[in-house]
Formats: sequence, C-alpha cells, structure tokens
Amino acid sequence: MRTDQGQPILLSDYRPPDHLIETVELDIVLHRTATRVRSRLRIRPNPAGRADAPLRLDGDGLVPHAVWLEGTALPVTADLVTPDRLMLATPPRHAFTLEVETLLDPSANTQLMGLYRSGSAYCTQCEAEGFRRITYMLDRPDVLAVYTTRIEADRRDAPVLLGNGNCIEAGPCPDPDRHYAVWHDPFPKPCYLFALVGGALDCLSDSFTTASGRIVELGIYVEPGKTAQAVYAMDALKRSMRWDETAFGREYDLDVFNIVAVSDFNMGAMENKGLNVFNDKYILASPRTATDGDYAGIETVIAHEYFHNWTGNRITCRDWFQLCLKEGLTVFRDQEFSADERSRAVKRIADVRTLRLRQFTEDAGPLAHNVRPNRYVEINNFYTATIYEKGAEIIRMLRHLIGRTAFDQGMTLYFDRHDGTAATIEHFLSCFAEASGRDLTAFGRWYDQAGTPELRVSTQFDAASNSLVIDLAQITAPTPGQPSKGPMVIPIDFGLVDRNGAPVRLDGITADGLSEAELRSGVIAFDTPQRRIVLRGLDHPVVPSLLRGFSAPVRLVTDLSEADLATLLAHDSDSFNRWQAAQTLATRVLLDDTARMRRGEAAAPLPPSLTAAFAAVLDDPQADPAFVAQVLTLPGEADLARDLGQDVDPDALHAAREAMRLGLGRALGNSLRRHAAAPETAAPYSPASADAGRRALRNTALSLLAAGAPEEGQALAEARFAAADNMTDQLAALATACLVPGPGREDMLARFHASFADEPLVTDKWLALQASIPEPGTLDRVRHLMTHPAFSMGTPNRIYALIGGFAANQSQFNRRDGAGYAFLAEIVLVLDGKNPQVAARMLNAFRLWRTMESTRRTLAEAALRRITQQTSLSTDVGDILTRLLAN
Ligand code: TRP
Ligand code: ZN
Repeated sequence: MRTDQGQPILLSDYRPPDHLIETVELDIVLHRTATRVRSRLRIRPNPAGRADAPLRLDGDGLVPHAVWLEGTALPVTADLVTPDRLMLATPPRHAFTLEVETLLDPSANTQLMGLYRSGSAYCTQCEAEGFRRITYMLDRPDVLAVYTTRIEADRRDAPVLLGNGNCIEAGPCPDPDRHYAVWHDPFPKPCYLFALVGGALDCLSDSFTTASGRIVELGIYVEPGKTAQAVYAMDALKRSMRWDETAFGREYDLDVFNIVAVSDFNMGAMENKGLNVFNDKYILASPRTATDGDYAGIETVIAHEYFHNWTGNRITCRDWFQLCLKEGLTVFRDQEFSADERSRAVKRIADVRTLRLRQFTEDAGPLAHNVRPNRYVEINNFYTATIYEKGAEIIRMLRHLIGRTAFDQGMTLYFDRHDGTAATIEHFLSCFAEASGRDLTAFGRWYDQAGTPELRVSTQFDAASNSLVIDLAQITAPTPGQPSKGPMVIPIDFGLVDRNGAPVRLDGITADGLSEAELRSGVIAFDTPQRRIVLRGLDHPVVPSLLRGFSAPVRLVTDLSEADLATLLAHDSDSFNRWQAAQTLATRVLLDDTARMRRGEAAAPLPPSLTAAFAAVLDDPQADPAFVAQVLTLPGEADLARDLGQDVDPDALHAAREAMRLGLGRALGNSLRRHAAAPETAAPYSPASADAGRRALRNTALSLLAAGAPEEGQALAEARFAAADNMTDQLAALATACLVPGPGREDMLARFHASFADEPLVTDKWLALQASIPEPGTLDRVRHLMTHPAFSMGTPNRIYALIGGFAANQSQFNRRDGAGYAFLAEIVLVLDGKNPQVAARMLNAFRLWRTMESTRRTLAEAALRRITQQTSLSTDVGDILTRLLAN
C-alpha cells in the first residue's frame, strides 16, 4: 500500500516537476514469479522547476535490488529507496543517469495494475499510476520521455514480445531457449502510456495506408485459435483510422499499430501508444457468441482507443485533474464516429440513455463531482461517467454554441498548438474562444460546477396577440462541497411544430428576448437564472420543441400538455425529441402509478392517448425499426428512481413499470405480434445497423407482447431460442423467457449454459441475465452461482456480470430486508483484498442510497458502516465510502 494513502491531492497545489526525464531505457526479463526490471533514466533539472530540489521518484510495493548513479552503485538503504519511493536528497545539478533494478512477481499481482499475468500472457496496465508498480519513476502525466524497451523471455513461455512504438531489433539470446525484442517509441510520452505484452498469442494481421501514403502494419493479438473472432474488430479499426482522417484530419503516426486482447482487465481498454490493450470482450465476436450490442460496443471501444492516439497521447493531460481533456473529448469523437457509421438519431438516443442512467444518477447523489475535479484522494475513482460522458456532452454543447465551422477551426488549432505537450482545459477552451471570437469564460463553468441543472420551461400561447410566451428558468441543486450554484450557459436547440405537425419556419417570426443570432441559428444560449422569450407573428397555436438532439445535459421539465407531447412524438422533425416525448408521456404515468402503488392502490388504466401515440409509431411503415424499438423501451427503474429523487420504494417502481408493460402489451397486442413474429430474412446474420435495428424491434416487441400475454410470449420465446442462428435473438428470447418463473426457464438456462460452457464471454451473459431477474429468489440464485466453477472472484468480467448485474437489479439489490445491501458489503470486503479498483467500482451500487425510503436507507447505511469497520481498507474503497457516508 502506498504511504500517501488518504491524503487529498489538490489542483491548486499543482507545480511543474523539478526534474525532467528525457529517456527511459528498460531491460525486462520476463519470468512468471521473478521478473527482473532494469531501468535507466536520463534525468535533468527542469528549468521551470525549483533549483536544487531533491529528486523523489514514485514506487508502489517495489522490491529494489540495486541502484546506480552515473554508473556508481549506491547502498540500498531506506534513506535512498523504499518500496514506495526512491529519493536523492541532493541530485546532480546537471543531466545525469540513474539506474535501478527491481524484482516483480507478476503471478501474484491480483490488482491488475502494473505487470500481471492474464491467461497465459504477461501484460501491463499503467494508467493512472501503475507504472510505479513496475519501476521507480516520476509518475505524473506532465513528464514526457522517449522509451526504449528490451524484453527477454523463454521462447515457449512468451513467443510473442510486444512493446510501444516500432520493433527495432529482435532475435535469439545466447541461451537458445530464450529470445528478445527491442521496441522504440520515438514519441515522448508519459509513463501511464507505457505497455508491454509477452505470451503465446495468435495474430490477425492487416495493413492500412494513411491518407498521405504511409503503410501501417496492423495486428490484433488474441488467445491461440481465436483470430477469426477478431475480424470485426480489425474492420472497425480500419474504419476508425479512415474516419479520423476525414472527420478530424488526423493520421496515424507509427509504422505499426498493435492491439492485444486479454481476459483479465479492470476496464474496457487502454490506449498505450502503438500497443492498445483490450478487455477481450471488446475484441472477440462471432454471430454465435456476440449480440448486436456487443458488436456496437466493439466498434465504439476500438474507435475510442484509436482516437486517443491524438486526443490523449499526442496531446496528453498536464495532471489527472484534466482527465476529461482526453476522456470527454475522445468519447465525443467515438460517439460521432458511431453516429456516422450507423443511425445518427438512434445513436444519440442510446447515448442519452446511458448518460442519464450513469451520469445523471452519479450527479444526483453523494458521489457527484466536477467534470474537472479540484481534489481527489484516489484517482482511480475518477474514471467516472461524469468525466467521460458529461465530459463529452460539454464538447457537444460547445459545438452547438459556436457552430460547426468555428468548432472545427478550434479543434485544428488545438492539434496544431498543443501537439507533443501536456495540456489543460484552459488551453483547450482558449482555442475555441479564439476560433469563434467568443468569450467562453462563463461556458467554462460546466467544468467546475457539479450537478445536473434543471431547466424549467413554461409556455403559453396567446391567441389574441398571436404570440407564444416561453419562460425559461434554470436551477442546479447543491452537490457535496458546492452549496450554491451559478447559472450555466445552456445551449437550447429549438424549433416549432404546429398542431398539425408541420414545422414552423423561424424566419417569419419576430421575437423579444432572443438575439438575432439565436433566432437565426435556432440555438438559445440561455445563461441567466431566468429569461422570457416572446415569439410574435404566429397565426395559429404551435408547440415548441426544445433541447433538440439533447443539446445540453440538463433535466428538462416542461408544462407541455399530453396533446402537445403526442404532437411532438408523431411529427417533430427532430427524432430525439420524438423519442423524448414518448419517454416524458410514459414517465408521467409511471410516477403517478408509483404513488398509487405506495398507497396500496392498483395502477390506473393506461390513458388511451398514450397507447394511441405508441400504436401510431409502431404501425408507421416508414419508421426506422431501431427508432421504434427505442420508443417502445420504457424508462428504466433506476431512471424513475432518480426522477423521483426521494423516498424511493423500488418495489413500487417495479410494479408500476410492469403494470405499464402489461397494459401496453395487451393494448398493442396485434401490432406487437406482427413485429414479434416477423419472419427472419433468409440472409445470413450481419451486425450491420439496419439488420440490428430490425432485430431490436422484433425482440422488443416480443418482450412487450410477453408482458401482456405470458403464455403466448413464452411459447414464441422458446421457439425463437431454439431456432436462433445468432446470439442477439437467442439471448433476447432467453431474457423474455426468464421473466416467467418455472421449469421452462430453468431448462432454457441450463441448455444455454451447456452450449456455451467453453465461452467465458457468453457465460457472463448467462450470469448477468440470472442476476437481473426481478424476483426475491434472485439473491440466493446469485449466491449459488458464485460457487459455480464458471465464476471467479479473480476475473473482473465475471464479477461485473454477476455481482454488477445484481447491483443493477433495482428491486432486488434494494430489497426491503436489506439482504441485497449486506450481500454487496460482504463482496466488497472480500474483493478489496484482491482488486481494490474493482471493489470500489462495485460500491457505486450505493450511489443513490440516501434517496431510498427510510427502512432501506437505514439498512443501506448500516451495510456501508460495516465495511468501514474493516481495518486496512484500500484507498480506493476508503475514498468511496467516505464520500458515500459524508453528510
Ligand atoms: N484510459 C482508458 C480509456 O478510457 C481507461 C483506463 C483508465 C483504464 N484506467 C484504466 C483501463 C485502468 C484499464 C485499467 O480508454
Ligand atoms: Zn479513454
């Protein structure tokens, strides 16, 4: 454990480093339990740092063997070096060389940070502070060095040896059983981007010719025998490379680009320079084992890590407070890529669903934090939805606000000006301020103020004066450490729709409270607590369509009537707002019903206007099937809980949602049946988005039909399960069947597991699906599955599937008897000793505990307090607990 445990790091304490490291030469001899690392650092005083400062290199649990300064051995005493730091009190005043030898045991590394074993391979993970678990280093992102890495290993143990950059030398060692490779990365980089891999891996090779004619060798390394499952990932990689050239003018810069897929990985993937390392779930796919969603996820993550080469690697972060500089921007870029490759409208809806589920929920509870935090205790805990997803929303807002041309110019300026440096949010924003000629100071508050603003809109049409009055107000509730909030700059993309559904042109309209530019661009820059807008010259009533495309990450509360929402759902030219209208209509009814259920009453009959509005979408032959599937998918229980905000009873929410599914299933039965039973095309499975959209509609219709007609639904599900030639249909059928207790579902579950027993990624689906069953027996089932040989507490994917799946099961995790909370606390305690990063992630399940009704709240708090009683908790878990329990 590190000695700086628990001490907060403050943004305001930032100082440039006192020393710079120009080159890092590593000589690594791989061994399963005794890997030897020799590091040679070329260090010099930083002219921008303090003169005559001591040199303090970071370590984390290292075993130092020897240290040489300018070639002379130094005595290895605690003054010089401990497991957690290497200190030279009076280092040379000029450039000098420091060499250190450390000994590592990769097999004992269960944290999956630093050098560890996954399957039969050696691999590394250094972001954020894992390099210091390999050797002593100034482990901070503003120290950029050129790395040369020699890797040596037993040929049979590690026939493949990979590093960052280009391979400049390779061959046999004097001992014929051993071999080596030397990799050189000419681009200076921070040590968090270092990587090496060794092992018996198969390679899927390809090449890519950049716009300027440079040929890049591409390799995707997977477990032996699995290259066929990397074909889609390779295709996604080549499309990503082309897209970054055309959309952002960014070319790849090395002769090789390698990706390695490993089975044990804490997160999705990692953008190490020239050597991305991936969780294999974001590489491996075949129609038999991967769903359409898996394919889409692979495309996104491949793109994300590739795009980091410019936004993250060529331009990196000055310090970890600037994490969103690379993550938010790169998420924005991968979202745009997927939007261009697929249906833009449907992609936006899916992204907003994720944003609301993950980020809005985070923002609404005790873990709320700024997109740019100003303090942290454990940086690993800041790889959050707020940094990633809200970070991406800020970039999107910026583009709405200043327009595409200025946005593109700002991006180009950013790449030109900051290439090769470690930058800040201020550097980034000033590029856009210059390009657009606008003052972005107030806009910058999005980075420094946490919480989801609520945007309240009330509208009134005045027939006498032919005008529409729109009153806007914004308010942001307090978040931890930020009791009072200022107004945000909220870009509101807007349009008008008349009662017959026709768009109303804005050019014939005069307006009070809107600038000429706002009226022309259709984007209101709402930057005050309140504003009144009066639109004149409307000869008939109109419905305002606000926040089109979800132009800002706010919670919109409107007073639009059911009829207005139905108009938008049927006719808005903006698909996002059509979908949003359906969600708003459903949410209103769901929240009413939840209140009814809490009073012990039954759900009210569904309003006929609601079913009619849904039916119209379902029966529209012109509609994009993927869009229809999105409309038919009701807001989730976690979303409803967040909307409720307090005194949440998850059982009531679940019952209300099921009642609506039943009502819709019955009312729309004939249409649903038609879609659910639609014959499959004869064509072989393709993950292309049009095909995926058709499957999504068929399967969503099946699920809703089964809610209204369980026996018919079950029969259809069983038939589809048996006939399916792809995982998407098969898993969807199984999920539908799983909602009906009985031997039928148990039999299907057993058959499913038997067919895929040797596919760990499919086992994860099997585990997650069972953990998601909304029945009181689920907790026992989960406990039982933990003893199944397919489960392991050592593999994050298994834990995320089973335990994470259970934690996402709102009604069961939040059981009224507190057994779900106690279970999770137990897991966190066990896991913390093995993998603190994953243990801390699991604790996220408690992020809304304070909004529960009082019985559950008391039980959740008791479970959390029980964890705090454990001595020697990791910083990761300690930090989250402190914040969850703070007043
Ligand atoms: N930088 C990676 C990404 O978003 C994610 C990442 C950060 C990560 N820290 C990690 C992955 C630790 C695995 C383990 O692309
Ligand atoms: Zn990233």
